[in-house]
Amino acid sequence: STILVLHGPNLNMLGTREPEVYGYETLADIDDRLHQTAAEQGHHLLHLQSNAEYELIERVHEARGEGVDFIIINPAAFTHTSVALRDAMLASGIPFIEVHLSNVHAREPFRHHSYFSDIAEGVICGLGSQGYDLALQAALQRIHR
Ligand code: DQA
Repeated sequence: STILVLHGPNLNMLGTREPEVYGYETLADIDDRLHQTAAEQGHHLLHLQSNAEYELIERVHEARGEGVDFIIINPAAFTHTSVALRDAMLASGIPFIEVHLSNVHAREPFRHHSYFSDIAEGVICGLGSQGYDLALQAALQRIHR
């Protein structure tokens, strides 16, 4: 099976960006670990980080044709703003899990609403990068079912 991991804006800055909020690991550290886990279980993992809304949207469109089975997405700030990315997820029809490193509910009120949570299979937040590992574990289990 094929899993696509999408990271939204500013997540390329992980490791140096507000490390007390987002941790000291880089995005490459996280992606490498997810690759390894997927490969060990005989799956393919693709990933993209983009600061541009349209690139994420177009990647989701492509995913449909590519036969991506599951998406793990941290939409970052687009979580709270992007009807367009939400619509792309709906259009793709690909099941997904929403991940946030930080506990968005313990932060500013504008982070409490997500355009994705009500259409996600599940949402993980506040567990740092472990959230991605847990999401991958859940995704792989769901694909096997
Ligand atoms: C985030 C939370 C968002 O509110 C924020 O805009 C981000 C990262 C997280 O992973 O905790 O960029 O999605």
